[in-house]
This record gives sequence, structure tokens and C-alpha cells, in this order.
Amino acid sequence: MILRAAFGIMCFVLSSCSLGYGKLAPDFIHPCNATTRECLVKATQDAIPDFVKGIPSLDVPSLDPFVIERLSIPLNGLKVTFYKGKVTGFRKCIVDNVISELDKRHFVLEFHCNLTIKGQYDAVGRILLFPINGEGDAKVKLTNLRMKVDINTKYVKDKQGIDYFGIKSYKYSFDYGDRVHFDLKNLFKESKELSETVLNFLNENWKTVAEEFGKPLVDYAVDLAIRTIEVFFNKVPYSELIYVPLPA
Ligand SMILES: *[C@@H]1O[C@H](CO)[C@@H](O)[C@H](O)[C@H]1NC(C)=O
Ligand SMILES: *[C@@H]1O[C@H](CO)[C@@H](O)[C@H](O)[C@H]1NC(C)=O
Repeated sequence: MILRAAFGIMCFVLSSCSLGYGKLAPDFIHPCNATTRECLVKATQDAIPDFVKGIPSLDVPSLDPFVIERLSIPLNGLKVTFYKGKVTGFRKCIVDNVISELDKRHFVLEFHCNLTIKGQYDAVGRILLFPINGEGDAKVKLTNLRMKVDINTKYVKDKQGIDYFGIKSYKYSFDYGDRVHFDLKNLFKESKELSETVLNFLNENWKTVAEEFGKPLVDYAVDLAIRTIEVFFNKVPYSELIYVPLPA
């Protein structure tokens, strides 16, 4: 207890605990001195472009681009597989709000982004009224996808007594924003014309289509992003992320 208090005072005097331990947080992390909305939004916005590139020294994988090796989307009457996929655009996300209630172990992040998903697909079954039997290049563009992630955090102590943020649970909500544009080649292997007609139809009804088959893809992306943040939290001490004392 006394040792910890002494260490705390030392940290205070040196304004950081990095000396002797080696700072782990990358330079693009600008810790806030208080959990004000203004500071948290700015700090999060500052960190995103670099964070999403990945941090090899901390085993934090890249989120922009992030790779979808293979994702099966099970739907009523339609079997879609998306593979060799790449999602880009997270580096330019705009942070709309951040709430950090340290004592309540509660964290909220709201942002919007333009994302591009590129890869290969195959699909057999029906989309809306149309029987589909296709495979080929797939590109989906989302304009101003809005997302709110609500995280229950926890504090975890390692063997040396150093505190870290943890993620206890999370939920999220989103909307597809202003527009989702599909470019799916070869929806019907037999007919180029029919493929184009149906593709136009899908784009005219983008909202219904996105709502019908977008969720698994978004779930996948959010889960990956959360796990990536978790890796980061497991490695970088609390004291390097925010300059506010850990709540009792
Ligand atoms: C926190 O306070 C320190 C010392 O006053 C200051 O140098 C730093 O810029 C502040 N950080 C932020 C993000 O405002
Ligand atoms: C997304 O693209 C639209 C149209 O090109 C643009 O108006 C908007 O500012 C972009 N949004 C973001 C978050 O970059």
C-alpha cells in the first residue's frame, strides 16, 4: 500500500510513469487530463488514423485495411459467401461523440465513416424476388455509415499491480447512412443483361438489401474492431491512456 502510494507520488512528480518502464503507448495517443467531451473527441480523432494502421510492436492488427478471408452470410433462401475481402476507410472516420464514465465503467463512442468493401462473392438463391446464381467481383460502398458503440469496461491488474482497461461487454447500433452502393459482377452467370437489371434494382432498393444482408458483415467488423481495441488495452497501461486517477 505504502509502496503503491510512493509510486503514485513518483508518477505525479515525473508526470508520467514511463521512466524506467518504457512508455508503451504510441505517440499518437494524447491522454486527456479530464473526461471532458471536447478532449475525448479530439484525442480519439487524433488517434484513429494511426491506430487503424495497426501497431506491430503491440500485436495490434490493421483495421484499415482489414481483411475478411471468408464470411458466409446465411439468409432465408439465399446463400452468400464473401471472400478475399478488404475493408478500407476507417482511417477517415469522423468521431461525433465520446463519453467516458470511469467510475461507472462505461464508454461510448459515436462516429460516422465512408467505407469500401471489396472482394469476391458467390451467391445462390433469391434476393428479394430474383433467383440468383452468381459469382465474381464485389464492391460495396457505404456513405456516412453511422455507428454508436456502447462498452461496459472493467479494470484489470496484472502481476506487477499495473492497471489496465478491459472490455466486459459491448453492444452497438448503426444505420447505413446516406447510401449503400453495390457493384456485384455476374449476379447471373448466364446473362449479363439480367445481371445489370437486377444490380440496378438492388441499388434502387439499397436500404432493404443492406438491411437484409448487411448485418452479419457489420457484426463481423465491429467484433474485430472491439477485439483489436482489447489487444491494445491489454498491453498499454491505464495510466498511459488517461491522466485521471483510477476510480476506487
Ligand atoms: C494535460 O496537462 C498537461 C500539463 O498541464 C498539458 O501539457 C497537456 O497538454 C494536457 N493534455 C491535454 C490533452 O489537454
Ligand atoms: C463521405 O462521402 C460524402 C460524399 O462523397 C462526403 O460528403 C462526406 O463528407 C464523407 N464522409 C466522411 C465521414 O468522410
